[in-house]
Amino acid sequence: MTQDELKTLVGLAALQYVEANSIVGVGTGSTVNKFIDALATIKDRIAGAVSSSVASTERLQALGIKVFDATQVEELAVYIDGADEIDHAGYMIKGGGAALTREKIVAAQSRKFICIADESKYVATLGNFPLPVEVIPMAALHIARQFAVLGGMATLRLKDGTSLVTDNGQHILDVIGLKITDPLAFESQVNQWPGVVTVGVFAFQKADVCLLGTADGVKTLVF
Ligand code: 5RP
Repeated sequence: MTQDELKTLVGLAALQYVEANSIVGVGTGSTVNKFIDALATIKDRIAGAVSSSVASTERLQALGIKVFDATQVEELAVYIDGADEIDHAGYMIKGGGAALTREKIVAAQSRKFICIADESKYVATLGNFPLPVEVIPMAALHIARQFAVLGGMATLRLKDGTSLVTDNGQHILDVIGLKITDPLAFESQVNQWPGVVTVGVFAFQKADVCLLGTADGVKTLVF
């Protein structure tokens, strides 16, 4: 099976977690796009969605799914999103699509985080994937220096030859060379650095369940 087919498989499998008449928390990325397409087939049975990015909002709306603002909803039953890496405890690296801040916010609003991923994302230790960090632009250089002290090398993410600007009007640093052996401690530490909007380690907002697409079908990991 191709990686694209595995993404379709887990996107479809995530429908089983969607409660009737509920508002669904929706992440961002190519795997989530498969989920959104699947969600459209049951759109008459849900109230709508809270989205984690402009891109997902546009896709949801184009398929006729009502999108609520996060401020209109007190709590969501489930949040469904992909990951760049996920480990045996459900800790993740996210932000490859630059949507990490809104993803963490909607995840925090949700009772359950269902991660959908193909098996290439399942890792023993987080850190091979360049760690995305959303930063206030004026702090980028100083934050890069702080990562260097931890053994990481940070580069500013570019788009069309210039600094990528997130949905929140900020920049993204991608950090290589880190081995994140204690995700909770790492997230706490980096989140306290002035100018960090969100670090792409999801330890406090970890997954509760991972639907992992494998050659043998969908494996359900419960954390
Ligand atoms: C976006 C994310 C995505 O969930 C992550 O990058 C995985 O994306 P994909 O499903 O395209 O592999 O965190 O900010």
